[in-house]
Amino acid sequence: MNQAVAQGLDGVVAASTRLSLVDGEQGRLVLAGYDVEEIAPRASFEEVCFLFWQGRLPANSELDLLKERLARRRALPPAALGILREAARSRAPVMDAVRMAVSTLSLGREEEPGDDALTAVAAIPCIVGSYWRLLNDREPVPALEELGHAAHFLHQVFGEIPSPEQARGLETYLNTVCDHGFNASTFTARVIVSTQSDIISAVTGAVGALKGPLHGGAPGPALDMVLEIGSPDRADAFITAKLSRGERLMGFGHRVYRVRDPRADILAAAAERFYTTAGDREMYQLARAVESTALRLLAEHKPGRRLDTNVEFYTALLLHGLGLPTELFTPAFAVGRMLGWTAHCLEQLKDGRLIRPQSRYVGEAGLRFVTLDQRSVG
Ligand code: ACO
Repeated sequence: MNQAVAQGLDGVVAASTRLSLVDGEQGRLVLAGYDVEEIAPRASFEEVCFLFWQGRLPANSELDLLKERLARRRALPPAALGILREAARSRAPVMDAVRMAVSTLSLGREEEPGDDALTAVAAIPCIVGSYWRLLNDREPVPALEELGHAAHFLHQVFGEIPSPEQARGLETYLNTVCDHGFNASTFTARVIVSTQSDIISAVTGAVGALKGPLHGGAPGPALDMVLEIGSPDRADAFITAKLSRGERLMGFGHRVYRVRDPRADILAAAAERFYTTAGDREMYQLARAVESTALRLLAEHKPGRRLDTNVEFYTALLLHGLGLPTELFTPAFAVGRMLGWTAHCLEQLKDGRLIRPQSRYVGEAGLRFVTLDQRSVG
């Protein structure tokens, strides 16, 4: 009866997976066999989809077929657009609207895991883009089949075909964040399909888990800090004051990584390339200066804590450089992570077992039922 409780399931290994390895001590992330640095900046998002769903990279004809199958599933069912219009009327937060619309993706289709996975990945850029446009009093733009996944997401948001640099910047981001071990939203999705429920139910739950600020919500505040600092010579005083007040620096520290999050460097490089060719170089240099000052001051103020840059710091810089508003940072994360959620669901359905942990009861027992007329208040 007196089992130890693994609070927050910290350190509990709940299943085996071939999808991603997170090594917090070495600062290493492996995506289906490939180090994230090796694959994320080079592969198309569709190649990574094939890798995650089939366990290997595709040949040319296989990739063409997958692109076609995804592109055909982009357009939203009318019910999804109806819900998004209603959500926009009541100014619902973007992640709430995304959750509502994702749940409609099973409408009018036979439930089938492979088709559910394709549909969820293909349609989420349309959900996010359409909702953003409706919130800003613009009509959604039709799905375009000829664009790659990342370019199509930007087209859905802005209504214009992005430059190849913009599409590549976003594609690197989507690949980088597509999976990350048993994070809370992925675990949520696996728990749902472990009951042999369907993938659309699972990814709807996962969107809800990602919404929480402890999971998907930090890049906005990280960007706010850089913008508030404004120039490199103000970084030291600003960060010192923040740390002295006991506040946390957004974009630094991680529960698993005790060294630099490997995703930070990939996104920093993607942001640098992008800011060199299309954006504001000063913004990039400011972020670099803020980062190095923050790392120096964190080491001084929190000695021995091993606090380093996490993925959110450069996510903020990259997505800002792509012109995405901070309200779309977490939804963009969902667009990338949708792939990991669906792949974990397929893996769970194939060889997983019902996920059903136990709880330790700490309430009373043996109480006698007292009828309503004999109960006193308090
Ligand atoms: N800034 C300042 N101090 C920090 C920071 C930070 N960003 N992160 C941790 N610390 C300090 C804590 O104050 C604590 O100090 P103390 O022991 O002197 O009180 C010590 O480091 C350990 O803190 P914990 O909360 O135990 O560290 P944990 O590993 O659980 O926290 C977390 C991880 C929540 C990410 C934390 O580092 C944090 O709040 N970072 C800022 C928010 C952020 O960037 N989140 C995104 C993470 S990436 C992702 O989720 C995709």
